[in-house]
Amino acid sequence: MKKERETGRRLTFFIQTFGCQMNARDSEKLAGILTRIGFEPAEDEAADLVLYNTCTVRDNANQRVYGRLGHLNSLKKKNPDMLIALCGCMMQEESVIEKIRQSYRFVDIVFGTHNIFKLAELLYEKLTRRDRVIDIWQETDRIVEELPAERKYPFKSGVNIMFGCNNFCSYCIVPYVRGRERSRKPEDILLEIKRLAKDGVVEIMLLGQNVNSYGKNLKEPITFAELLRKIEEIEGIERIRFMTSHPKDLSGDLIEAIRDSKKICRHLHLPLQSGSSRILKEMNRHYDKGQYLGLVKKIREAVPDIALTTDIIVGFPGETEEDFLETMDVVEQVGYESAFTFIYSKRTGTPAAKMECQVPQEVVKNRFDRLLEKVQAIAAKRAGAYTGRVEPVLVEEVNAQDEALVTGRLGSNFVVHFPGSREMVGKIVNVELKECKGFYFYGEAIT
Ligand code: 5AD
Ligand code: SF4
Repeated sequence: MKKERETGRRLTFFIQTFGCQMNARDSEKLAGILTRIGFEPAEDEAADLVLYNTCTVRDNANQRVYGRLGHLNSLKKKNPDMLIALCGCMMQEESVIEKIRQSYRFVDIVFGTHNIFKLAELLYEKLTRRDRVIDIWQETDRIVEELPAERKYPFKSGVNIMFGCNNFCSYCIVPYVRGRERSRKPEDILLEIKRLAKDGVVEIMLLGQNVNSYGKNLKEPITFAELLRKIEEIEGIERIRFMTSHPKDLSGDLIEAIRDSKKICRHLHLPLQSGSSRILKEMNRHYDKGQYLGLVKKIREAVPDIALTTDIIVGFPGETEEDFLETMDVVEQVGYESAFTFIYSKRTGTPAAKMECQVPQEVVKNRFDRLLEKVQAIAAKRAGAYTGRVEPVLVEEVNAQDEALVTGRLGSNFVVHFPGSREMVGKIVNVELKECKGFYFYGEAIT
């Protein structure tokens, strides 16, 4: 407040989000808190408060944050009153905190994944005490409901249904930085979605590291499929998406819930990670190649028009050419509409980091390029099959390059650009897919 009087204007904030949808949703909550206490959003880092919500799933995410921090330091030299804050997954790592303490002294506030609800308090502490504030919780069993949120899009929203992960895939740092699995109560989730619907939201994305194990640890257990059936009934919600599904927990009941639903989008993100049964065992994934392919077959039989997407890691320790060819084989057999491909990144503290036979960089790079080529060729072929169809599209924005076009998404998650106007944003429009450009389309609205 004093600062506001001094400057004669509202204080501004800028949040940069790294990483996944979970972080994007956390950032909306952080923006909600800041707005409630009187801050206004700024367009860029020339703001009174700059907050980086970080990711640490792969090392390149960390490196990007360190790189950007260098730039922030030079901004702060010109404007010493500027506040710099860091939060998110990277901050849950001790080695990162140590590095920030030693070498990034210009950072004012640091907090983690378990205490984002404390932002206002931490800011107050910083402004009244002057020293920098570092507050990291190792773990929590709490879920804080009713946090305000400033949505990026008025018509669609992420909804957390659970936090944390219990799977401990051997390469993954997430269980260490996001803690144990905690499900929100169904009544809290339903209430939030009803409110979102009243507020104009038509599409929701249910978020969790492993949505298929939702509800197992609640006092009154409920399955993910049951939750979906309840959400289906909420008036105003027209599209339901969810992320991420672990293949080991995907039940027959869930497949039926998808099949019978009018609102669940025909898109399933089903991370494969590797096609080699031997590597999958080393990864602690609890399924093998045959089981994964069996599951895909079952899903496709029940919901023939479903689009499948996936995550794949190349170069896990000990991966041989034969193992890699098994991955290529699954990619071919499944025919993904899209796949995120990652080079294995060693994360300190995970079991895989201690494994011998880390694969040489040039071998990994070669495999990665071959995989990417295959993934793109198959995705283009799958997308091509949609050409000529008329599909409902949720219009998300006016096209940044060409104002005469709007951009939206099909249920299957493909992007389409077509002639339209600002009034269409947030509406579901039938669009004829005229031309396939590999992973997106040009179309025309059908009225
Ligand atoms: N190296 C590379 N990719 C990883 N992922 C998770 N941990 C790692 C790692 N150490 C990928 C997985 C996961 C996605 C979110 O990130 O494919 O599904
Ligand atoms: Fe990481 Fe596996 Fe949990 Fe996904 S399921 S967050 S890959 S440990």
